[in-house]
Amino acid sequence: MPPSAIEATTTAPPTSASESLPNQIAQSVPAPVYLSTEPGPDHDWKVTLKSKVIVITGANRGIGLGLATVCLANDAKEVYSFDLFEPGEEFQALQQAHPKQVHYVHCDVTSEESVNKAVDQVVAQSGRIDGMVANAGMTKHQPALNFDRPQLEQLFNLNVFGAYFCAKAAANKFIELGIKGSIVFTASMTSYRPNRAGPSAPYGGTKAAVRNMAHTLAMEWAKHGIRVNSISPGFVMTQMTSKIREAPDFNLKMQYYGGMPRLADPRELGGAYVYLLSEGATYTTGIDIPVAGIVGAW
Ligand SMILES: NC(=O)c1ccc[n+]([C@@H]2O[C@H](COP(=O)([O-])OP(=O)(O)OC[C@H]3O[C@@H](n4cnc5c(N)ncnc54)[C@H](O)[C@@H]3O)[C@@H](O)[C@H]2O)c1
Repeated sequence: MPPSAIEATTTAPPTSASESLPNQIAQSVPAPVYLSTEPGPDHDWKVTLKSKVIVITGANRGIGLGLATVCLANDAKEVYSFDLFEPGEEFQALQQAHPKQVHYVHCDVTSEESVNKAVDQVVAQSGRIDGMVANAGMTKHQPALNFDRPQLEQLFNLNVFGAYFCAKAAANKFIELGIKGSIVFTASMTSYRPNRAGPSAPYGGTKAAVRNMAHTLAMEWAKHGIRVNSISPGFVMTQMTSKIREAPDFNLKMQYYGGMPRLADPRELGGAYVYLLSEGATYTTGIDIPVAGIVGAW
């Protein structure tokens, strides 16, 4: 039965045979109503973000900024950066190259109130929201024995709570507006295995949480036509990796990792995000895409 055919029905009352089985789950609850994500007859089979309004958290620089660039190259109507800090020159250059399409909203993703307010602002300004990339995050490299509670809380507040608030705010708005939206988390290869270039057990824990969460949210929100996925980058050329790149043996470490012994340009991740945000991915939900130049096969 195609998803479009799934409607709210009350299934037949249990038969006398099932009633006689004490462990049998009663089948009398109404089946959920599914908002169909099936492509319609006029579906655009090109992978494109045409007419889509996309929010990317932490897009003032680094991976988020690279993603914003690739979203625009693939015809996104508008891209918003939700970021804690004022935009710098790189972000302003993207704004100048795409007048009226690139916006900055001051937002602290660790505050649910701040995230809800920012999402409301997007809809007030642009009339809709189609995609949420929960990307803002941070790491801290140090031996596990040295982490104290405030450091752990800082990492989990931003990487897990922040991502959760963004996903929840977007899902609520998609449901309110009847939009079949897409949510993409930026996880990490450290969600699969340790980062041998710079130890950070708590960071890996936050990213594993995010990757796992995407799967469960995809299950829960499928009935609303909402898709939830994650991307796991390997090493990317951003501020976050500046410290580990300074290590005198960094190049050697990269060679030992196997695969491509280099860091990614942030824009090299963009294609995977664009796919997940697009209508090309109407049947893709609950997955993680590693984009890692095979860094440390996991
Ligand atoms: N760089 C890598 O090699 C790499 C690898 C795997 C995963 N990641 C993940 O990719 C994401 C982006 O990393 P990056 O390398 O671009 O980092 P980055 O430090 O260059 O950028 C992070 C952005 O998030 C913003 N931010 C920080 N706290 C915020 C808050 N409370 N609210 C809103 N915005 C906030 C920052 O201002 C900044 O613009 C992170 O989730 C990171 O964990 C990075």
